[in-house]
Amino acid sequence: GTPVRQVAVFGAGYIGLVTGACLAELGHRVVIRDINPDKIELLRSGDVPIYEPGLGDMITRNKERLTFTLDLQETLDGAEIAYVCVDTPPSASGDADLSRLWSVVRSLEGATHLRAVVVKSTVPVGTGARVRSALDAAGLAHVGYAANPEFTAEGRAVNDFLHPDRIVIGSADEATAALIAELHEGVDGPVAVMDVRSAEMVKLASNALLATKISFINEIATLCEKTGADVEEVARAVGLDHRLGPHFLRPGIGWGGSCFPKDSEALRQLASNTGYHLQLLSAVIEVNNLQKRRAIQKLKDELGTLTGMRVALLGLTFKPGTDDMREAPSTVLAARLLAEGAEVSCWDPMARPADTEPWTSTSRYERPEEALEGADAAIVVTEWPQLKEVDWARAAGTMRRPVLFDGRNLLNPAEMRALGFTYMSVGRP
Ligand code: UDX
Repeated sequence: GTPVRQVAVFGAGYIGLVTGACLAELGHRVVIRDINPDKIELLRSGDVPIYEPGLGDMITRNKERLTFTLDLQETLDGAEIAYVCVDTPPSASGDADLSRLWSVVRSLEGATHLRAVVVKSTVPVGTGARVRSALDAAGLAHVGYAANPEFTAEGRAVNDFLHPDRIVIGSADEATAALIAELHEGVDGPVAVMDVRSAEMVKLASNALLATKISFINEIATLCEKTGADVEEVARAVGLDHRLGPHFLRPGIGWGGSCFPKDSEALRQLASNTGYHLQLLSAVIEVNNLQKRRAIQKLKDELGTLTGMRVALLGLTFKPGTDDMREAPSTVLAARLLAEGAEVSCWDPMARPADTEPWTSTSRYERPEEALEGADAAIVVTEWPQLKEVDWARAAGTMRRPVLFDGRNLLNPAEMRALGFTYMSVGRP
């Protein structure tokens, strides 16, 4: 069989936990380190600090091979491979903030028994070269380096890790690339080996192109509204062209999440730093900003004013099946509504109370029906399946005005209008 490796994973966030748990599932021994004591305590007690389907079970199933610790020595003791899975949030300039990555790299000093350092965090192109120099300077010139970007989507991360479209490994030396490929034995997907910079670019380019597809269909949706075409029909038939593909052509209220906004901005800034302006990507980002503002404008046109109006936000997380509120369109919608002097009532099955606590003039409800009661308008922000189960006929009666903007084209326009709603959606007549 495949040799069992001892792997040190730095960072117990989405990526670190999924990577660590999946490597353990493949049979490796994994120590996951984080600097947050609450997280480590929670993980040790058998809990998972994030919601990700299948992850909790996988961690439980592999608990013999999984250790969670705050302790650096325990993490590195006997480790052959160090995986860097810390977050790289945007800095004030829009460039990725690599401070956490550097603190991990510094902590590897003296870990001369390592065979490879692997960066999974999303980083600007050229970061690997700088890490390489830092390792050389720290007396770790004999330790290999690889970039191994992740392409997992939240809500399907475990499955994406074990059945990826591709495993990208960037390394300057064949032995390290082979070691990382071998570590993934059992994962069902093709391995693409390349140089470090290209591997770093694949991640940024992939996310930017996915975001581009969505912004493109969102612009076509706007044009459909102006010309009477139906974007759902258009997207379906466009997607049947195998060169274009059916995925990421769902029109909506805009893309959000922990990756697309951050990575597209980071790529844009990376280009700016070289003196080149990425025009297409800049437009993709701008279209996405507008998409959220257009939703508010539509309500404003319909109601005359938003001042003093009560608006229900249905679904708050950036997509269904996650508790993640990072760069969620709902955060922009809520801020815009409050700025217009509206009152917000909201519902979401997963968002943490702490996420909406800072919102002023906002009440949070357990059920969508309660959030709709007395509202002058509502917006479907996230396509949680629960919203399909709402008794919309009843809801129409409890709202002050049955005005609904369906930002995800979740509901049926004819049915909603028959129930008495002033119903608006994205790109449908
Ligand atoms: C994404 C990438 O899919 C993944 O490969 C990468 O590693 C991280 O970023 P994630 O952010 O988890 O994953 O979510 P994803 O399901 O891709 O959705 C991203 C955003 O785009 C969401 O806000 C979603 O609502 C929106 N979206 C997606 C659309 O508006 N239309 C679509 O057709 C698809």
